[in-house]
Amino acid sequence: MYTQDEKVLNIKFENFVQTQKGEDLFDKTLRVDDVLKSGILTGNEALGMVCLERLNSVVKLKEKDGFCHDVIMLGTNSYLNIANNKNVVKKGISALKKFGIGMGAVSNYAGVCNLHRELEEKIANFYGCEDAIVFPSGYGTNVGVISALCSCEDIIINDSANHASIYDGCQLSGAKIKVYPHQNMKYLERILDRIPDDITGRLIITDGVFSMDGDIARLDKIVELAQKYKCRIMVDDAHGIGVVGKTGRGSAEFYNVGDKIDLNVGMLSKGPGGLGGYCAAKREIIQYLRLYARTYFFSTALPAPIAGGLIEVFNLLEHDRAGRSELMKKTKFMKEKLQNAGFTLGNTQSAIIPVMIYDERKLFRLYQELRMQGVYVNIVTYPAVRRKECRLRLCIMKDLSYRQLDWAGDIIIQKGREYGII
Ligand SMILES: Cc1ncc(COP(=O)(O)O)c(C=O)c1O
Repeated sequence: MYTQDEKVLNIKFENFVQTQKGEDLFDKTLRVDDVLKSGILTGNEALGMVCLERLNSVVKLKEKDGFCHDVIMLGTNSYLNIANNKNVVKKGISALKKFGIGMGAVSNYAGVCNLHRELEEKIANFYGCEDAIVFPSGYGTNVGVISALCSCEDIIINDSANHASIYDGCQLSGAKIKVYPHQNMKYLERILDRIPDDITGRLIITDGVFSMDGDIARLDKIVELAQKYKCRIMVDDAHGIGVVGKTGRGSAEFYNVGDKIDLNVGMLSKGPGGLGGYCAAKREIIQYLRLYARTYFFSTALPAPIAGGLIEVFNLLEHDRAGRSELMKKTKFMKEKLQNAGFTLGNTQSAIIPVMIYDERKLFRLYQELRMQGVYVNIVTYPAVRRKECRLRLCIMKDLSYRQLDWAGDIIIQKGREYGII
């Protein structure tokens, strides 16, 4: 007989991704349904939970069973809560009135209005690049950019912790894929040194701020290696834009190598608080992407209200008036509080704080209990990270007060002690 905990350990996400011998295509969905109904698999209690109010430091949640309660929000990627900035909302509403909720066409047909072009120009200027392209989805940005520029003749070298959308883009491109252990520059050089001379299309791709660890890619070293081994560099700074760097221009600014990055990719859905993604680069590269990035060419353009709101977001970002330094001070406060209590937080340098738990069973219970006590955090385990490296993932938001952070931190510490984590 299995104990409840052993049962949980024996039911794994990956058990359900393949059709078993003799099964109909959809039988795996019934197997998942059975497991979820049985209640054996913990950690899914929050599936079906909804927010009843706009994003704020305290948000009203409705749980799956209908129970409504307030939580302190430590789980949003909208670090600056700029989506709710008065002027941003005003610009969004004005675009909504003028263009409606959707564009009705892909960008290369009639899906683009003056706001899309203005936004692209703003993003290009923000990076000091010649041009930029805006995609309707962040995920689709990585998939589109990589699969447009790389093919079977080329090689792509990835940090092991790169985002799933980067890996999916690499797969779709058909290029040879190499992976170096997270932030291991020696290993990266070993890979580069062994690339045959006749493979001349070479691209190193890295997250700028790593989404699960919060650390910043060693772009100084990556630039040096790329120059030595004649590689191009793509940085996905989804979690860096507006948050890190001297003026919030992200990870490349942090290392002062902004002009050495060939493809400045980022997401409009996190720090900028909207939706979509972008790539800023040389004019002819952007032109090429407009024709060959299939997630751009074959996908309806970003709705105008979002493009309109994002123009105002970039007005704030370009003058560093979005609250970045306040955000970083509050992140430091929370980091120190949790670290002093004995938690392991890894090497975070951004507004993401990973709180290592190392035990999936404890993680799921903690998640549930914290939420019920009024603290909303995200959890991360397989397939995003290895199970033994599972963690709580706190995201600090600028609008949280020190009192709220203190209160939430005390609860996390109390639970950490109860569970024997600290
Ligand atoms: C590093 C990174 N790249 C890309 C994406 C995809 O962005 P979006 O959620 O806007 O599709 C994410 C989102 O989780 C991310 O963390």
